[in-house]
Amino acid sequence: MRRKVIAANWKMNKLPNDAMKFIAELVTIVKETDVEIILCVPYIDLFYCILNVQGTNIKIGAQNMHFEDSGAYTGEISGEMLKCIGVKYVIIGHSERRQYFGETDEIVNKKLKSAFRNDLKPIVCVGEKLEERESGKAIEVITSQTQKALDGLTKEQVENTIIAYEPIWAIGTGKTATSEDANESVKAIRAKIAEIYGDDTAQKVIIQYGGSVKPSNAKELFSTSDIDGALVGGASLKAEDFSKIIEYKD
Ligand code: PGA
Repeated sequence: MRRKVIAANWKMNKLPNDAMKFIAELVTIVKETDVEIILCVPYIDLFYCILNVQGTNIKIGAQNMHFEDSGAYTGEISGEMLKCIGVKYVIIGHSERRQYFGETDEIVNKKLKSAFRNDLKPIVCVGEKLEERESGKAIEVITSQTQKALDGLTKEQVENTIIAYEPIWAIGTGKTATSEDANESVKAIRAKIAEIYGDDTAQKVIIQYGGSVKPSNAKELFSTSDIDGALVGGASLKAEDFSKIIEYKD
């Protein structure tokens, strides 16, 4: 059985001091858990967070990276740089990066390859816009994004990719996809992976749901057949809310 992986996406929030306070609080309130916990934090918080989670079961991830290892890319951070300070995970192709920073499926694919080159585990985001859902194109859009993101990866790399299905209309809006709809979309993504890489590989891939996940809807989403956890934005900013999502079974 696949484990549950619950990742926080703090986006552009929390100064190092707040990040360290959050970790101190989370560590005291989260009980023993078999859930894999990842905090994806702003670049400037990464090093502080890595030092502060030592000896805990919390892992630290970045929210983006450049696809080259080094070079004349003013202001960018590479996978090699993330690896060097002990980062283990990286979000790739979040819809906000696609929307505000022009990230294409091709760039997302290059970033995934760079993540694996640098021993980082990618959390790659796919998701449809509201008009795409309303015109019946959601499944086509998300399976195509998935296929293009994974293009050229080995089976083993695909098995080590976390996919976050995040319908764009549900991000930060308070609107969550129903657990049935979210599970249908996640199943379609898994079916696409099975078609290309085989069912064995598809069954191993962790596919999260993201978009207004909160303590009140986590249990229902995580009780479905195919949703393996969540990428959580707003509700990950308070340790108390985030811990309730981690402890969804209680
Ligand atoms: P949200 O964000 O939980 O605030 O909707 C999720 C995300 O953007 O990853």
